[in-house]
Amino acid sequence: MNQERMLPMKVLFADACIRGELSRTARLAGAFLGRLQEVCPDLELLRQPLWEMGLQPLDAGALRAREALCDASDWDSPALTAARAYHDSDLVVIAAPYWDLSFPACVKVWVEYIFVRNLNFVYRNDRPVGLGRARRCVYLTTAGSPIGADDWGAGYLRAALGLLGVRDFHCVAVDGLDLLNARVGALMAGGEQRARALAEELAAEISPGPAPC
Ligand SMILES: Cc1cc2nc3c(=O)[nH]c(=O)nc-3n(C[C@H](O)[C@H](O)[C@H](O)COP(=O)(O)O)c2cc1C
Repeated sequence: MNQERMLPMKVLFADACIRGELSRTARLAGAFLGRLQEVCPDLELLRQPLWEMGLQPLDAGALRAREALCDASDWDSPALTAARAYHDSDLVVIAAPYWDLSFPACVKVWVEYIFVRNLNFVYRNDRPVGLGRARRCVYLTTAGSPIGADDWGAGYLRAALGLLGVRDFHCVAVDGLDLLNARVGALMAGGEQRARALAEELAAEISPGPAPC
């Protein structure tokens, strides 16, 4: 067993469930994380509520300042808090409602803040190479209508985090919740069950053997 395996698993929870206690997506996240914590009681969970972190879309000045930090490898700067948290996590969990065919804007702004050159990715031979530790991401979402093929939220995040090193991207989506006559209780119960099953599957993958984590 290598040294890294013996450290507690670090889970970053990027929370974009803006409606808080009313959020059905937050319920999915609760089912996933609750089961994961039962199976892996030692895991370190860091929740980052994306809409409360004060992240502003990058403007020219912020971009210049960040490029200077990248050039100097100054990873302790407070401007890179989100990027460092991403870099250090073993598993990334993102929960975001389906808004306007994707997700709330705070998710895209968060992506701007984790895409940090020389910390979370680098170009080698004109190709991007991910430098984050996380190889797995779980994306939880709920939608009012059927998502269908217009899955810009999960599709975008799969591609973006793939560039940072994520190889296994899992999505648990419950859609059609706002349709007339939607059986919301049954749909949500099914989603929560899938989320819990995924937690068990990932826990076993990350650390097979008698001591799950
Ligand atoms: C600002 C906003 C935008 C939305 N855009 C869409 C949309 O494009 N497609 C859709 O099917 N539902 C859309 N919905 C409905 C939500 O996806 C749905 O109610 C979801 O379950 C809300 O998640 P929550 O309970 O976690 O907040 C939108 C809701 C809001 C508030």
